[in-house]
Amino acid sequence: MTETVKIDLYAKNLDETKAIASQIAQLATTGTIILLEGNLGSGKTTFMQAFGCALGIKTPITSPTFTLIDEYIEGRLPLYHIDLYRLEPSQVPSLHLQEYWRGEDFPLGVVAIEWSSKLLNLPHNYLQINLSVPMQSSQPELLQNLDNDLDNIFLEDLSEERIIQLIAQGSHHAQILNQFQA
Ligand SMILES: Nc1ncnc2c1ncn2[C@@H]1O[C@H](COP(=O)(O)OP(=O)(O)O)[C@@H](O)[C@H]1O
Ligand SMILES: [Mg+2]
Repeated sequence: MTETVKIDLYAKNLDETKAIASQIAQLATTGTIILLEGNLGSGKTTFMQAFGCALGIKTPITSPTFTLIDEYIEGRLPLYHIDLYRLEPSQVPSLHLQEYWRGEDFPLGVVAIEWSSKLLNLPHNYLQINLSVPMQSSQPELLQNLDNDLDNIFLEDLSEERIIQLIAQGSHHAQILNQFQA
């Protein structure tokens, strides 16, 4: 049976998200695969910016929404940062993402994929990171003034609070969470 470990975290502000991302970067090893899920603006790219910083990457990490795949090779581990937002699930196989975790054509490193739910075939083992904004925002008065049209606004704009759920699948990724200090 595949080992699964889950940790639910709460970040009250941006700095707490960054601290969580840095710690995971410190625990990441060659072959770590990170699947990032969460609405637009929930903080997937922000998480990876802090993650990359903690790996020692000096190049500013930007959103790969348009480039699809960005490679950073100057840190402790190579980082392949991917964003599937603009793709249909049927277009994803042509990116041959498995090349990044096979370690033949590219040096093995960390693969991080935003909008990973578009992957038709998930890797066998991974660390999934789900980012969301708690419904009970710390600024209820702001929420009340929004004409109840909550579907059309980014709740993320209102609050720095995030719920960060970590789910490790397989022993490599479970080990990362077993060492994580909440
Ligand atoms: N606690 C937090 N964690 C992550 N991002 C936060 C937090 N608080 C505020 N933000 C802001 O939310 C936005 C997240 O945007 P981004 O990382 O591009 O989201 P995504 O990649 O998920 O679409 C950034 O402007 C970031 O500064
Ligand atoms: Mg993003």
